[in-house]
Amino acid sequence: MTATKQVDGKQVAEHNSREKGVWIVVHGHVYDVTDFLDEHPGGAEIIERYAGMDATEEYEPIHPPDAIKENLDPSKHLGALIPNTLPKPEVESPAPPPASIQVPQKATAAGGDPEPEEYVKPNLEEVLSLHDFEAIARRTMTRRGWNYYSSGSDDEITMRENHNAYHRVWFRPRVLRDVSTVDYSTKILGFNSSMPIYITATALGKLGHPEGEVTLTRAAAKHGIIQMIPTLASCSFDEMVDAAAPGQIQFMQLYVNSDRARTKKIIAHAADRGVKALFITVDAPQLGRREKDMRTKFEGNASSQQTSGKDNFRRDQGAARAISSFIDPSLSWKDLQELKDAAKGMKIILKGVQCWEDAVLAAEAGVDGIVLSNHGGRQLDFAPSPLALLPSVVKALTAHGYMNHPHKPRFEIFIDGGVRRATDVLKAVALGATAVGIGRPMIYAMSTYGEEGVCRLMQILKDEFEMNMRLIGARNMGEVVPGMVDTSALNSPGGNITMYDENYERMLPVGTRAKL
Ligand code: LAC
Repeated sequence: MTATKQVDGKQVAEHNSREKGVWIVVHGHVYDVTDFLDEHPGGAEIIERYAGMDATEEYEPIHPPDAIKENLDPSKHLGALIPNTLPKPEVESPAPPPASIQVPQKATAAGGDPEPEEYVKPNLEEVLSLHDFEAIARRTMTRRGWNYYSSGSDDEITMRENHNAYHRVWFRPRVLRDVSTVDYSTKILGFNSSMPIYITATALGKLGHPEGEVTLTRAAAKHGIIQMIPTLASCSFDEMVDAAAPGQIQFMQLYVNSDRARTKKIIAHAADRGVKALFITVDAPQLGRREKDMRTKFEGNASSQQTSGKDNFRRDQGAARAISSFIDPSLSWKDLQELKDAAKGMKIILKGVQCWEDAVLAAEAGVDGIVLSNHGGRQLDFAPSPLALLPSVVKALTAHGYMNHPHKPRFEIFIDGGVRRATDVLKAVALGATAVGIGRPMIYAMSTYGEEGVCRLMQILKDEFEMNMRLIGARNMGEVVPGMVDTSALNSPGGNITMYDENYERMLPVGTRAKL
């Protein structure tokens, strides 16, 4: 092995424009990105802003560690920066954020202008519910992190409806059933899970916590929960698998790349590394318009898969669009066989099914299950809530012989979106879901208290399960049956959120340009 070349920071600083060449430093290494500028999926502008400088801080949360090496020709890796040789950039003082995004404000008693209120982050023991993590995240996360995580598409009607739908299902509790011992563990695709939930895929973990998604991996191990590894994580796939405990079950969410060879390579690697199931996202041929996210004017690229400069969308439209240009909008039912063949024994689940007809097509296509999901209300606004869909999907699959059929392998239904309580999960299970995916609450817990926060979230859910199973009179998951819920109001027009609606913000007004 040849010794790594050493590069003087003064030389880096001289390469600060297209004319002179654009060099940047990432994690102590110097790269010549001049030829890559126009290919960068996040746009040239963001790189040019760091020309001749250390870009690590900007790069870190939104790229897996290997992205720069995978996307640049090895000859563009110029060597290691000689420590302390890079001249300090002259720092512009950042513009104050617009009033609308400053610290939370409270109205004065006299009803005059609101006064800024100092926010004191509570101790973890004071956090009592999943809503609490969200409320704390809103006040303590960076604006760009919060805007990316919390945004929904268009008017965010579906995002709110996902949660609201749970308010329209009521229990029919049973009594006198000797509930001294209750067991809320279950099997998900045949794998043990301590509760009928899993951590669903969410992107860009380092926007919330410097360690990113490995905090979720570690908390999942401690609580016997399955983690779905996201395609667009900030940690690399291998980092998340390496962080797993021996025997820990992990699934993987997959965005299918227009470059199928690349997707097949990813699938093969996941199979080699012991991932048990692939959740293929089918609701995102184009990422939705999340205006709150777009207003943070985020440019970036979370994916080491994005190599090409030709894409369909503008790059200055928020984190979501900046990172997703590689996703293949031509994906169709006829591609499933090829993906199934590539999966070499891993189970295949379609994530993002939104009507019973597609649920039946999925079962006919021979996949192992579906997630009824509208991507946390981040894709099509006015897509129905997964909970409201569930009864019609179960009915159709039963009619077609795919549910609990003695001669057919079990087809499993999952749902996600808007889940904040164990009672929400119990309602979904009663209506036929195997388990429920939890996304945002996990990353809010991670963003606010790291791994400990995620562990507390899981313990809160366990406590809620134990109490609520006793109160509905179910001793195990097998006893959580349709007769335990009243769905007569489920398809009535949605009401407004009555509790915790403070977590759902007004859209940021036009003109808001948060300087990050
Ligand atoms: C999102 C994608 C990347 O919803 O899953 O932001």
